[in-house]
Order: sequence, then C-alpha cells, then structure tokens
Amino acid sequence: MNSSVNMEKLVSLSKRRGFIFQSSEIYGGLNSCWDYGFLGVELKKNVKEAWWKSVVQMRSDVVGIDSSILMHPDVWKASGHLDCFSDPMVDCKKCKHRFRADDLNSEKCPDCGGELTDVRQFNLMFKTFMGTVEDQQTTVYLRPETAQGIFTNFKNIQSTSRLKIPFGIAQIGKAFRNEITPGNFTFRTREFEQMEIEFFVKPGEDMEWFEHWKQERFNWYLNYGMKKENLRFREHEKDELAHYAKACVDVDYKFPFGWSELEGVANRTDYDLKKHIEKSGKDLQYFDEETKEKYIPYVIEPSAGVDRSTLAFLVDSYEEEEDRVVLKLDPRLAPFKAAIFPLVKKDGLREISMDIEEKLKKHFTVFYDEKSSIGRRYRRQDEIGTPFGITVDYQTKDDNTVTLRERDSMKQERKSIEQLASIIGKKIDQ
Ligand code: GAP
Repeated sequence: MNSSVNMEKLVSLSKRRGFIFQSSEIYGGLNSCWDYGFLGVELKKNVKEAWWKSVVQMRSDVVGIDSSILMHPDVWKASGHLDCFSDPMVDCKKCKHRFRADDLNSEKCPDCGGELTDVRQFNLMFKTFMGTVEDQQTTVYLRPETAQGIFTNFKNIQSTSRLKIPFGIAQIGKAFRNEITPGNFTFRTREFEQMEIEFFVKPGEDMEWFEHWKQERFNWYLNYGMKKENLRFREHEKDELAHYAKACVDVDYKFPFGWSELEGVANRTDYDLKKHIEKSGKDLQYFDEETKEKYIPYVIEPSAGVDRSTLAFLVDSYEEEEDRVVLKLDPRLAPFKAAIFPLVKKDGLREISMDIEEKLKKHFTVFYDEKSSIGRRYRRQDEIGTPFGITVDYQTKDDNTVTLRERDSMKQERKSIEQLASIIGKKIDQ
C-alpha cells in the first residue's frame, strides 16, 4: 500500500470529485449502500470491461451470460443457500448492537461491555415477494451470488455454444447480502456487483485448472497496474471453506484497513450441478463425444468483486507528491483518457479546442475544461487520474500542434493534432 493513502482521504476525494456518494444522502443516507458518480461509473465500467476482455473476449474457451437476479426459490434450496448461507450472530442485551460472533475476541459487548445473547445463525439472503395477489404471492430471494444463474443454464449454454469441456461461463451482475457488519466504504456492502466464472472441467483435472485460474486472476490485477507488494494469495483453512468448496484461495489486497479479500478462486467440485440434478430431476451431465463418457463436470470458480477491485485500484493509484495529489490509474481504467484545455478562451483557441474534443470523443472519453489557470486545470485532472492533458495555445494556430502532457512524468511535448488519437489510442488499446 502507498503510505500516504488512508480511507479518510479516499472517501473525501471520492465524494468531492464525483467518484462515489452515500446512497440516499439527502435523506440521511442508507447504511452500506453507495452510488457511483460521473467518474466512479466510468472507472467501474472500465474495470468490468477489462475483466470481460481478459476472460471472455481474449479466450476461446469462455462465453458470457446475463441471468436474472430473481430465480425460482428451489434454486436456493438446491444450492444450499437457504440452509447454509448464514453467519453466526450475537446481540448485546444492553446497547442492542449486533455483531458477527466470529469477529469477537471476548464474551462481552466490545462497544459497552454488556452481556451478549447466545449465538444464532442469521441467513444473509434478502427476501421479497413475487405476484400481485397477496395470498398467492411467492417468496423469492435477491441472488446472493451470480453463480447459480450460470449453473441453471449450464445445459442451455453448452448446447447452444457447442463448447466442449473444459470451458467456462462468465457473468457480471448485482448480488445482495444482508451483511451483519458491512463497512470500510464500498468494501463490504449489502448490494454489490460480482464478476464470476464457472469453469467446467473433467473430474481429476480440477486441481490443474484451479492452479491455472489462481495465476490468471492474480496476473490480471498486476497487468492493470496494481503493485505486486500489495497483493498476496491466502489459502483457506479446511474449517473456513464454504459449504460447496473442496479448496479455495483468496487474492488479498493490502487495504489501509489491512489485508482483505479481493477475489476467491474455489474448487466447487460437482456440488452445484449434482444438487440441481437432484432437485430439478433434469439431466445436467456432460456427454463427451470422443470417449462416449457421461459425467458431472467439476467446477473451478474465480469470483471477484467489482466494487472491491474498483476500490483497490483507487487506493493503489493514489499518490501525494510535493504539490499535487495524483491517481496513477492505468490509462485503460482512467475515467477520462484526455483533458483538453484552451490556454485562453478568446482568439479562436476555444473553437480549436472544441473541434479537438469533437474528434477525440469518437475514440475515447475526454473532458473539456476552460476554467482557471492551466496549472490548476492540470492538477484537477491529475487528481482524477486523467493520463493526458492537451493544451491549445497561440502556436496551435500557426502549426496545428498542441502541448501533450503526460500525467505521471508531467513531461510535455509538442504533437500535431492529427497524431493525438493514435498516440492516446495506443495507450488504451492493449
Ligand atoms: N460465488 C462465490 C462467491 O460468491 P464470495 O467469496 O462470497 O464467493 C466473491 O464472494 C467475491 O464477491 C468476494 O471476493 C468479494 O470481492 C465480493 N463480495 C462478497 N461479498 C461482498 C460484499 N458484502 N460487499 C462487496 N463485495 C462482496
């Protein structure tokens, strides 16, 4: 972690500049829910696109899906979430505060020293009701993971894509958990987005693929600029494995509040497909045409959090230098790729600048700014991670060149207007 960053500074920058706001702020806020502002939405979109590019677009053995959030209630009976997806909870009898029992080191309330209730299991799924006639309503659940929409569509996707094992199905989407102790800004929330792959393999080849995905996913964070010293693997102990997992390793990030999970890579075995076969009565086995074998595939699951990755990219890129705060985001993730500044608004410089903006915005996101001194405009863009500044000055009128300033080195070079799209494009098209 970069020594100058702390969560207070990051939360403040996020709000002040338009990355992330508290949900329902005008009503006093809704605990653990967050809204992404005009910069946050671009950053988060770029994180999702980077993931999709790496696991779907660049591979011939993974395809995508977008399944619904609400599913048949039997899905959650079969998957074990109705019975097992719970955390141990205790309440303080005096101050009424609620805690996860496994977070506590003492038998007393950590806030007031009061006596605690017995431990109860608290199911994390949100319930709602489907149907318009009250006595015919069905209880349905907001999905706590996107994975089940992949398992229930295993046959649909396999038969339509005609992919052969080993192959994977990827999904990005919202998930909901009524967490007992949400917190640390967007790290643990009750509504969040996941990026999940279920990768189906032949039993016996599972641990090989587990290793493959472990490395692939670790390298993805490095490839998008995260510092190696801030990333680590953490193997799960047998007693902390989820109810469906044979092995699991977390990719952890060194947040200002300590090492915490960014992503889990799990070996889910044939647990889910087997349970869905039992509950639905449908044959979800795979038929290997070459060997004429029929079997239930094993599943390797890399499961990442969009909000956690976005937060980690923000933390990792934050730097304080002598006279500026700068987000050294990978240009592919930066909300805006370039900012365009006329040195002054008059003498035709504004028109030239706006013309450049029109040309460049066909290729990537740009920001136009004509307010205050050039130095201050540069600083404002540094603070939101814009990798390039383009300044239009009087020389531009003579020779069609501009000053191109690079965010990290602050190096300035004269470039012709015609070159801009290709110079900047190369940085974001890797
Ligand atoms: N399908 C497997 C699964 O859901 P998980 O470890 O519970 O596994 C996967 O969740 C990822 O989803 C986590 O590594 C984390 O990045 C993200 N995630 C889980 N709960 C979250 C929460 N309450 N807030 C934000 N992100 C969360």
